[in-house]
Amino acid sequence: MTTSPATTTAAHGSAYWLDDFQTAADVRARTADPDWFVGARLTPAIAASLQRFQVGESGDGATLIGAADASGDAEYAAAIRLFVAEEQNHARMIAELLAAGGHRTIAAHWSDAVFVHVRRLLGLRTEVMVLAVAEVIALRYYRALADGGRDRLLTEMSRRILDDEFRHVAFQGWRLRTGFSRTPRVLRRAIGAGWYVFALAVAAVVASDHGPALADCGVGRGRFIADCAALFRSFADQAFRHP
Ligand SMILES: [Fe+2]
Ligand SMILES: [Fe+2]
Repeated sequence: MTTSPATTTAAHGSAYWLDDFQTAADVRARTADPDWFVGARLTPAIAASLQRFQVGESGDGATLIGAADASGDAEYAAAIRLFVAEEQNHARMIAELLAAGGHRTIAAHWSDAVFVHVRRLLGLRTEVMVLAVAEVIALRYYRALADGGRDRLLTEMSRRILDDEFRHVAFQGWRLRTGFSRTPRVLRRAIGAGWYVFALAVAAVVASDHGPALADCGVGRGRFIADCAALFRSFADQAFRHP
């Protein structure tokens, strides 16, 4: 199943997003964790896949925070800090789930190292563009786990992460739309087309690297890539192809 990313809210500004992340943090603080003690039965492929995603979710966001600070928008910088905390909460929940299934976390994975390196190449907009690829792919990945993972804890955790990722996609889309608002339309659309090609390449790598886990969830590689492509198109329309 493909679910469209939430509509990016161009009319909203940094204050809206800061409030959104603060509200989410408040709700999280009042919400009990999934009951990790019931244990989880994860297939070996899903456990290995989650170990890699856990590395990706666990970054400290230092470069992104630094770039957001340099933007001079204090509310955006504060929102980014809360966003990073939300991703770290995903990493924490995945680690708990892995432990509930008798699996360890891993310290590093090549795919994360490559991704972080590319993100840091060219400043805030590049960082957000690359991050947005991961956020959109996360929509399809956690949807697959939630719908096909066949474990109650895995489903519950994936749904919680998915709820956050929908907001993250809208947040990054808003930021790109704002960041490129003064870029000539032709250039902006060319950047969007480049982003789409890059995103498809990343989706193909993820489909290959996480293929066995996706297969355990009943999602073939081709379908995963096709569903990601539809999500990428929708995101690119909102972030780069506005008038
Ligand atoms: Fe996440
Ligand atoms: Fe996210």
